[in-house]
Amino acid sequence: MGGAVPEDSRGSVSQEVPALKRLVVGITGATGSIYGIRLLEILRGHAEVQTHLVISAPGKRTIVEETAYTVRDVEALAAHHYDIRDIGASIASGSFRTVGMVIAPCSIKTAGAIASCHTDSLIARAADVTLKEGRPLIMLVRETPLHVGHLKCMLALAEMGAVMLPPMPAFYNRPKDLDDIVNHTVARVLDRLDLPQTLVAEWQGTTRRVSTGEPGD
Ligand SMILES: Cc1cc2nc3c(=O)[nH]c(=O)nc-3n(C[C@H](O)[C@H](O)[C@H](O)COP(=O)(O)O)c2cc1C
Repeated sequence: MGGAVPEDSRGSVSQEVPALKRLVVGITGATGSIYGIRLLEILRGHAEVQTHLVISAPGKRTIVEETAYTVRDVEALAAHHYDIRDIGASIASGSFRTVGMVIAPCSIKTAGAIASCHTDSLIARAADVTLKEGRPLIMLVRETPLHVGHLKCMLALAEMGAVMLPPMPAFYNRPKDLDDIVNHTVARVLDRLDLPQTLVAEWQGTTRRVSTGEPGD
């Protein structure tokens, strides 16, 4: 990446570790842009986390089609945002230290690009960098039903070290509305990044059992 290497007064390269946890967030054109938006909203409340956002062109379209947010509203939730074509952005280099990347939601197209190392967009490049630097890459891949090609792609990504975290609703927590369902998945993302969250309590085991009516139950 271009730009001068920062040097200290003695002329040696600065090894300063960033105080903030930089997290890259990608939003692609799979349905469910609210997952990425909710993640950004929650991370705004984390003073120690600095978000770096990239939205693909189809991602911008789904934001407008599926939510009441404008693209500008969503970009304003992040500390920094980048053009998807800007493959020279800071997050395109492994030397820019981050705590990882979340793609929420992740389309099959972008999943396929990352699986095949076809890094011609900033989301695919930043994801490739995240993997090569051994940082967590969490992908909320969303499609249904899944054909064998999709499944092979997800297997390849898992083998490369990415975390496959499809946005699948859980019902054991008795969600009351869509917010509960979205929050549950976002909480699992934050858990996977070891970031504190108060959206979903830890499961403490089954406390109440409903009788099935079977003898002895
Ligand atoms: C409303 C809408 C919903 C879509 N949902 C999905 C989806 O769930 N999964 C998927 O892989 N693609 C979905 N697509 C298609 C992707 O947007 C399309 O493949 C696009 O090229 C993905 O590009 P991107 O990965 O650069 O965002 C959807 C498109 C639209 C307009």
